[in-house]
Amino acid sequence: MQNNLIFGFSKLTEQEKRSFIASLCHDPSSTEEKLKTFLMQDETDRNNFLDLSENTISSFHTPYGIAPNVVVDGVVYHVPMAIEESSVVAAAAHSARFWADNGGFMVTDISNVKLGHVYFRWFDNPSYLFERWEMLKQFLLEHVKNITINMDRRGGGILSLELVDATHEIENLYKLELKLDTVNSMGANFINTCLEDLAEALEQFFAADHDVKKCQVVMSILSNYTTECYVTVKASCEIPKLESISENLTAEVMADKIKLAYQIANQFTSRAVTHNKGIMNGVDAVLIATGNDWRATAAAAHAYAARDGKYRSLSWCKLDDEMLTIGIKIPMPLGTVGGITNLHPLACLSLEILGNPTSKELMGIVAAVGLASNFAAVRSLVTTGIQKGHMRMHLTNILNLFNANSGQREEAESWFSSRKVSFDAVKHFLYENTH
Ligand code: MEV
Repeated sequence: MQNNLIFGFSKLTEQEKRSFIASLCHDPSSTEEKLKTFLMQDETDRNNFLDLSENTISSFHTPYGIAPNVVVDGVVYHVPMAIEESSVVAAAAHSARFWADNGGFMVTDISNVKLGHVYFRWFDNPSYLFERWEMLKQFLLEHVKNITINMDRRGGGILSLELVDATHEIENLYKLELKLDTVNSMGANFINTCLEDLAEALEQFFAADHDVKKCQVVMSILSNYTTECYVTVKASCEIPKLESISENLTAEVMADKIKLAYQIANQFTSRAVTHNKGIMNGVDAVLIATGNDWRATAAAAHAYAARDGKYRSLSWCKLDDEMLTIGIKIPMPLGTVGGITNLHPLACLSLEILGNPTSKELMGIVAAVGLASNFAAVRSLVTTGIQKGHMRMHLTNILNLFNANSGQREEAESWFSSRKVSFDAVKHFLYENTH
């Protein structure tokens, strides 16, 4: 289909936008109906939801499931996950249950420091800048006070402000580096507002000084490379306990293969990326369900995985004294107040289901689900292979596609329990059994 450019699309009403897009499809009236069907029922929710983004004409549904029995620091959580990929929730739930029976996950280290920068060029003598730094810093902090006052009251605010010389990397370039505590909010808007205010104050400070423009602000933006906003989670079990999930392997062989699988992921980037994808299956699903910006955590996590110049796994496994321990350290800039956590009805509900956690508590829960998903994948890989579990879900999806009735489903499940599932094989099976 070749479309013409449209001008002023954003100015159309929501209904006009829907009609226009529907008119491009082969059955405009049923397309329009379909788009409307996926809108939320409640008018206030619908409007709040549509207003979150721009040019919205419907909403895109994703399955919302629960991984029950995720134990973190002794607390049992039934964790909402929003994800379309088959098997992820089931695998996380199965793994979480195993670890729940072995004491659950423990948060062993956590930090919540956020970061942002004002990048600027300085065209005068560098020592002039550094000599004035203490005075400039006081001026900047005073200037930004009216923005930070509420955050200060909530126990957060600015932690530090530093001047960084970046001229070794780029000529004349310097950074103001701001570290903040945004308490339970992710704080992206707050951080960027502070940074833009600091940038304005920086230019003001020097504008008064000389008629030549010595200081040029380039840009002000938070950094998603939040290496001081991270969580470390671990879980341990006695090796013989692996027997219950080791299929036909002994617990010792299973433990050895698991450890090796984690070593392989740490050593080979080709495996590390897939290994970490398995972690992010769990992490992203909980972040989405709780209304968090999962792209920020994904960006931070992958950059962190490559921190020594080689992309490695985010999780690890240790074997000692009869114990197997798995762990993960992952940067995670999230929030439990503000942003869409308050506006999206299901995000609010997810937080309620989790007992309205603080941002640090949620970091522990998300990392635990990431580690549970990761362990589930590794367990399958070193025992039966992942296709066994996936194929069951794949069969369900194909049967759904053909609107199979309950009798056909039962027969197909029994037939395919010992055979390879493929689209054609299921189609053929259904054809043979209905004709
Ligand atoms: C699939 O979404 C994720 C896995 O590939 C992860 C892994 O290989 O560890 C199963």
